[in-house]
Amino acid sequence: MSEGLRDIALYVHWPFCARVCPYCDFNVVRDRGRAAAEALAAAIGADLSGQAARLGPRRLTSIFFGGGTPSLMEPEQAAAIIEAARASFAPSPALEVTLEANPTDAESGRFAALAAAGVSRLSLGVQSLDDEALAFLGRNHDAAAARRAARAARAAFPRLSIDLIYALPGQDARSWRADLGDALELGPEHVSAYQLTIEAGTAFERAVARGRWSPSDPDLAAELYEATDETLSAAGFEAYEVSNHARSPAARSAHNLTYWRGGDWLGVGPGAHGRITDAAGERWATRAEPAHAAYVRRVAETGCGLSTRDRLTPEEAALERLMMGLRTLEGVEVAEIQALGLGASQMESLADQGLLRMEAGRLMASGRGRAVLDRLVLELAQTGQPG
Ligand SMILES: C[S@@+](CC[C@H](N)C(=O)[O-])C[C@H]1O[C@@H](n2cnc3c(N)ncnc32)[C@H](O)[C@@H]1O
Ligand code: SF4
Repeated sequence: MSEGLRDIALYVHWPFCARVCPYCDFNVVRDRGRAAAEALAAAIGADLSGQAARLGPRRLTSIFFGGGTPSLMEPEQAAAIIEAARASFAPSPALEVTLEANPTDAESGRFAALAAAGVSRLSLGVQSLDDEALAFLGRNHDAAAARRAARAARAAFPRLSIDLIYALPGQDARSWRADLGDALELGPEHVSAYQLTIEAGTAFERAVARGRWSPSDPDLAAELYEATDETLSAAGFEAYEVSNHARSPAARSAHNLTYWRGGDWLGVGPGAHGRITDAAGERWATRAEPAHAAYVRRVAETGCGLSTRDRLTPEEAALERLMMGLRTLEGVEVAEIQALGLGASQMESLADQGLLRMEAGRLMASGRGRAVLDRLVLELAQTGQPG
């Protein structure tokens, strides 16, 4: 019986990639071969079962294999982890299982085996359908491979989401709209469109520092953000989150909605983050050991992969709720961010600037507000009187 159980989502981090892209600052390393993958998959299963046993009964609403490149996993490894998750919790009848894939891993046999293992939604890293842009991004596939992968994914999985990156040097609204139009021909029901971010410690950061090329200026990036919304909304997609667009409410990412709605999720695999609310209503932030070999050792020695487990203060939890909630169309319930002590006058002033809106006890960022979200959250957090 899962009635009355509190919901939980599961994030599984797979850190290996065939090649590390020059813009990426996720917790990734070059693939380490079969033995390392087998050891890691087994450790993830054991970590998951151990954390679940300590947590107690929950209703499992989603599993998300993120990376890194989880499409490099053997389908049997993904299957064993899905099985362990289903055995550890009460699976919801609508359980959504997403796996991030690179176009290079799109053999139809592999996709069919992943689907048979229970993966219901593929998130394909297309990034662009322009070969020059893909070369600039250091991707190990061209547009033709991305098209083939999308076709194979549509045949194998009930749901297809694609990732795109925009605001590349030299890109203007016209060329970005053309790229988006090509991407829509792949037939996804969900599109995540990310503005290129120059992350600290990446090869792109070093190239920019040496003056090799310059990132798009903020005005152009804002124009491209608007072009994204316009093009996708004309094609029937709703921007239900800053970077995420779904063809229907059912096509939204159930897993990411857990993050944006302040739900609970267990994080397993190297460096995975988690958030758990305990029976007393306290919210805990967990992080797994980030280095893959050390993670495997830690699980073998202690039965648990976590390296930190911190209780969030009510203010920290409320700030996180505000930041996540304002990313979405539905916003955040004011009662949930009470600990920030936001005053009505501060919210009214931001509403007068057309950045915020209050409706039926919820605070929502307007389209303009979501485009300058970091500034908006900072202003709200600074004017609040935690208490
Ligand atoms: C962690 S990656 C995993 C997906 C898969 N490995 C791939 O590359 O296709 C998830 C997504 O984050 C996005 N991403 C990663 N680094 C980024 C950056 N610096 N700027 C914008 N988007 C980025 C890419 O669109 C990528 O598909
Ligand atoms: S973008 Fe994807 S493939 Fe590239 S390094 Fe990051 S996780 Fe790996």
